[in-house]
Amino acid sequence: MIIGIPKETLPGEARVAISPDVAMKLGNKGFSLRLESGAGLDAGYHDDDYVAAGVEIVDRATALASDLVVKVRKPTLDEVAGLKEGALYLGFLETCDEKDEVLQAMFQRGIRPLAMERIPRISRAQSMDALSSQSNIAGYRAAIEAAARYGRFFPLMMTSAGSVKPARVVVLGAGVAGLQAIATAKRLGAEVYAYDIRPETREQIESLGAKPIDLDLGEEGSGEGGYARELSDEAKARQQELLADELARAHVIITTALIPCRPAPVLVTESVVKRMREGSVIVDLAAANGGNCPLTEADKVVRKHGVILVGHTNYPSMMAGDASTFYANNIANLLAIMFEQAEGGPQLKDLSEDEITAAALMTPQD
Ligand SMILES: NC(=O)c1ccc[n+]([C@@H]2O[C@H](COP(=O)([O-])OP(=O)(O)OC[C@H]3O[C@@H](n4cnc5c(N)ncnc54)[C@H](O)[C@@H]3O)[C@@H](O)[C@H]2O)c1
Repeated sequence: MIIGIPKETLPGEARVAISPDVAMKLGNKGFSLRLESGAGLDAGYHDDDYVAAGVEIVDRATALASDLVVKVRKPTLDEVAGLKEGALYLGFLETCDEKDEVLQAMFQRGIRPLAMERIPRISRAQSMDALSSQSNIAGYRAAIEAAARYGRFFPLMMTSAGSVKPARVVVLGAGVAGLQAIATAKRLGAEVYAYDIRPETREQIESLGAKPIDLDLGEEGSGEGGYARELSDEAKARQQELLADELARAHVIITTALIPCRPAPVLVTESVVKRMREGSVIVDLAAANGGNCPLTEADKVVRKHGVILVGHTNYPSMMAGDASTFYANNIANLLAIMFEQAEGGPQLKDLSEDEITAAALMTPQD
């Protein structure tokens, strides 16, 4: 079984799907690996590192024409055209639309795509959950970004030249990215408050030393599979209203509220931004999906009403070395349940028999 690792082509994407250490482990399990020359460079991994791990360095066309291709980002139509008929493809498919043209092109060529974002959030799949491994990085990097952009201290400071109070940080959405943002902001010494629509997050917020914000929306926010469900319009309006005073007092807001395949809920309105102190910072992790604040601009840092709004959409790529290693480990753990050891090398199992591979595998019926 030959695994191909092409270079990512999306502008600004620095990650690579397999790191050299994971390549070595996969080689030991009987896989043959081919890397497009230079695919790891932006993540800090040189061709020589891969060669030392037993990987063959090839050109782009050869990497794409492998039995199984692994990437981070969704393939382009050109890449799909270069895949082998019947090949397996592993990566984020980044689509909520079954009529998506890339997906359709894959099905027409008999390619079997496994979408990393469809790995279910169940205990047994934790080590394969790439959405979580990358969101964890995003939450950390968002808090660091906020601290760097904020022109004041995060911690309480008592010095001979004066004392300052700790920054007041509010994190909205306490899922994977949010909890890591809370933990990082706490470590930096800020006073952290957090809010999530799912009541079960209260305990997790408290266990990180942050203070939960309680709102009575008159509606239950928990949905299926550990995700939230969308609120009614009345509850959305009530949520904005009840959050307003808490947010206007914040010096830093980190927003991470998400419902899969839905536009990001608006939690920080323009009127709240107007009330925030000059120089306050909003890091909006949902910028790619419209933002939890309507003033955020995707992939830009802008200043509006005196508030700095940060809309980076690819934090994991800013930490490409570690992000690639985490992602590669997720892939290797998924491969471990997709294949069984047999004479002559790894043999593909029936992917419909395991709930994890069955959920990740996309078919024309999806
Ligand atoms: N910018 C980046 O580089 C980057 C990288 C990774 C993830 N993300 C984004 O970060 C966000 C969070 O990702 P995640 O993996 O932590 O998701 P997650 O599903 O683990 O967490 C999202 C949380 O938002 C909460 N939520 C949903 N609607 C809400 C509402 N109206 N009010 C309050 N809370 C609400 C959910 O209950 C959930 O706990 C997503 O928007 C994701 O796309 C951005």
